[in-house]
Amino acid sequence: MMAESDANALRTGLNPSGNRVRWYQRKRRVPGTQMSTLQQKRLLSLQLIADDLKAHSGRRQRHNRRDIYQFGVLTGGGMKAWIDAFPTYFGEPFSGELWGFDSFEGMPEEDAALRYDRHKNDPAWLAGGLNAAEHLNLTSWPALRAKLVQNIGHLPAQTHLIRGFFNESLRGGRGFANELGMRPAFLVDIDADLYTSTREALCFLLDAGILVPGTFVYYDDIGHWEWRVMDSGDRFPLRNATSQEIMWKNITHLEERLAHDEVTRIYGL
Ligand SMILES: C[S@@+](CC[C@H](N)C(=O)[O-])C[C@H]1O[C@@H](n2cnc3c(N)ncnc32)[C@H](O)[C@@H]1O
Repeated sequence: MMAESDANALRTGLNPSGNRVRWYQRKRRVPGTQMSTLQQKRLLSLQLIADDLKAHSGRRQRHNRRDIYQFGVLTGGGMKAWIDAFPTYFGEPFSGELWGFDSFEGMPEEDAALRYDRHKNDPAWLAGGLNAAEHLNLTSWPALRAKLVQNIGHLPAQTHLIRGFFNESLRGGRGFANELGMRPAFLVDIDADLYTSTREALCFLLDAGILVPGTFVYYDDIGHWEWRVMDSGDRFPLRNATSQEIMWKNITHLEERLAHDEVTRIYGL
């Protein structure tokens, strides 16, 4: 169960000392709270999104007419984090549709060359790892689905879980998206970890007209220091860089970051 201080931080955006929760990654927790990394990263991202929308007042209300998509749902904690944090920054609960995509039976096979060394033997990154059905000890899909919807905490009629490996579940492309009534995305949460899965998700979203100008894309595995490094390009200020930033500047990127780089290049984004 979430500690009261964490629930308050999620609701108010303030930590127990009354300070605004800040963009913060070095330690694994928001100072003074027991909020999980999963919650903290999404809470702080929503804060940045709200700030961006405030700075562009014409875009303020767009979240009411658009949906939230997540690729890699597992047991629903990340989706719940968005739903819980929404009223803090938008003054009202999220009222659109939630779309969650997952096999709910774990990770697919992935070529080891497309995983960072530290993930090559990590069971969570191997085929069958992070199996939601196993985590929740529920084998029947209706029971698992009901539990996931309950975990997420959004309106059940507006919580859509698409079960299957992406190479099959997304195969229908734009026709499939239209048939189910998927609208342009307010927010896309990419948390499927692997290069191939991320690439499949991004191509589907772009081909189906779901990821459109103004959509916010959250990558769970691309940290804020990486975006700082990417944004600065050749002007990367090595003098002020942290060791983490230097590492990110110099390594060959894989997984979610490789898919992001490739897809944005291919689609000219
Ligand atoms: C890191 S977990 C997601 C964690 C989740 N977002 C949360 O907040 O707890 C990754 C999930 O992606 C799913 N996944 C990865 N690649 C997939 C694919 N190609 N097709 C379907 N599901 C996939 C796995 O089943 C797993 O549940």
